[in-house]
Amino acid sequence: MTAPTSNAKLIAWVDEWAARCKPDNVYWCDGSQEEYDRLCEELVQGGTYTRLNPDKRPNSYLARSHPSDVARVEERTYICSEKEEDAGPTNNWMAPDEMRKVLYEQFDGCMRGRTMYVIPFSMGPIGSPIAYPAVQLTDSAYVVTNQRIMTRMGQAALDVIGSDGFFIPCVHSVGAPLEPGQADVPWPCEGDISRKYICHFPETREIMSYGSGYGGNALLGKKCLALRIASAMARDEGWLAEHMLILGLESPEGEKTYLGAAFPSACGKTNLAMIMPPKGFEGWKAYTVGDDIAWIKPQKDGSLRAINPENGFFGVAPGTSYNSNPMAMDTLKPGNCIYTNCLLTDDGDIWWEGMDGPPPAHGIDWKGNEWTPDAGTPGAHPNARFTAPAGQCPTIDPAWEDPAGVPISAFLFGGRLSKTFPLVYESRDWNHGVFMAATMGSEATAAAIGQAAIRRDPFAMLPFIGYHMGQYWGHWVNTGKRTDLQLPKIFRVNWFRKDENGKFVWPGFGQNMRVLKWIIDRVRGRAGAVESPFGMMPRYEDITWSGIEFGTDKYLGITDIAREGVLSETKALKEYFASFGEFLPPELEAQRKDLEDRATKAPEVWSTAA
Ligand code: OXD
Ligand code: MN
Repeated sequence: MTAPTSNAKLIAWVDEWAARCKPDNVYWCDGSQEEYDRLCEELVQGGTYTRLNPDKRPNSYLARSHPSDVARVEERTYICSEKEEDAGPTNNWMAPDEMRKVLYEQFDGCMRGRTMYVIPFSMGPIGSPIAYPAVQLTDSAYVVTNQRIMTRMGQAALDVIGSDGFFIPCVHSVGAPLEPGQADVPWPCEGDISRKYICHFPETREIMSYGSGYGGNALLGKKCLALRIASAMARDEGWLAEHMLILGLESPEGEKTYLGAAFPSACGKTNLAMIMPPKGFEGWKAYTVGDDIAWIKPQKDGSLRAINPENGFFGVAPGTSYNSNPMAMDTLKPGNCIYTNCLLTDDGDIWWEGMDGPPPAHGIDWKGNEWTPDAGTPGAHPNARFTAPAGQCPTIDPAWEDPAGVPISAFLFGGRLSKTFPLVYESRDWNHGVFMAATMGSEATAAAIGQAAIRRDPFAMLPFIGYHMGQYWGHWVNTGKRTDLQLPKIFRVNWFRKDENGKFVWPGFGQNMRVLKWIIDRVRGRAGAVESPFGMMPRYEDITWSGIEFGTDKYLGITDIAREGVLSETKALKEYFASFGEFLPPELEAQRKDLEDRATKAPEVWSTAA
């Protein structure tokens, strides 16, 4: 096939990799519906996809992965910077030359018997000054079809690259060459975990991924490009690439405010991205711009404008229901989705644990085995996914594809913490906000006695930062030094405080809107607050309570602050910060000391009611 581009660098790069991987064919994807349908049909014929019942799930497919290839492989993920110290203490590192040697050997002949697909794509709306074009090579049609949902793929992206433009080169192989005559399997991948590699070369902006066909290991635009490589680009170019949802909230008066929010996994990020305003918030509207990643660039007018670099949602399926996330369920309704590792029902639909209603009496589980509710194993893998077009989300923001992006007024950070940390607090200033984000995390386990250890996940970027974590914090501190910017306000939230019986107190989900409204009002300078050891906090009367019974006592129970709890946090942070060595910005250690000071001077139990 002749290349549909005149870009000599791109053609030479494709030729180089074709010579190395030795595929039977090279195919340049055009991103059309016809191409998508054809590849899906081939995947059905090959046993990778099952076509779902068109009455229930139009134009939708189910894939079952190999049972060993079900999630991102962080232990095989590398940042190959020239210097080891630039990868930092939170990343695996290998020298780029050494890694290239290993990879070139493994890629040699790895696509024998297969087609090498060339996927031109844009992360971000085509032509947006915040977006970047890229090209992924892959030997997986599963990856091609998922990428068509997750990115803007095809000729339009090639046109952006033009005859001599920049693109981010991404190479992917499932690492399962076929000998002549050898039959393929539904989910080819490298079975030896020690031969799987997810590699990033931040200086040369390259990605190479070998051995896995799953999610973030294989859809290279997402975590590899939009977070790991983009975070290094953002550092060099003065912008922010963040693991954040983007949410737009519109008041009954038509005033719109956009927030970016970062949470570690299992904190309901997708639910917040698609929040439904609760009873008592009639006239309010919530709009989704993105559910996972935000690229945020400072503008000449001092605003920070964000795009969602993705075109679809690659969401965790189990737990998603009309109860937890009606908008996600409705996003799936029109069809055009790919499901991976869900249960197949007898009527050709999919199902997962936590979906509404009773489980089906019978189905085929994610491993392809007969399943009944008493099987004793889950029907869907806990990391089963849906790949869905973002444009199908009923609450998608009208501006979600605006090339100019949307202006961000506030950043939210949160984790899953059962005590000490209140429902919401606002940072005292920018550096305090960076400290709040750098120290966030979730409790590792609900320890019965004493303070449960917090698994730190700074900015929710622990597995996704493409350079030294301490330098990344420094980049945020430096952003705050810019006098040309109107900096967003920064907040920490915690939906997960428990009472003395171990029960969650805050109802969460749509009720989180009450906290978001206080945040908007703080941004707009019209909500009250009191100063706590942690930061500025709403009193009971500063929150809108219409439409819910939630008494003062309960509120005080999730907003009081025990001195001992804060002091044990500042002590734990001292040790944590020490692991970042000379790259720890001194501003953050100063913030830690300030917090310790404030806690020391605070009453034994600080309360918003005092
Ligand atoms: C994701 C993740 O899949 O953060 O989005 O792990
Ligand atoms: Mn994510």
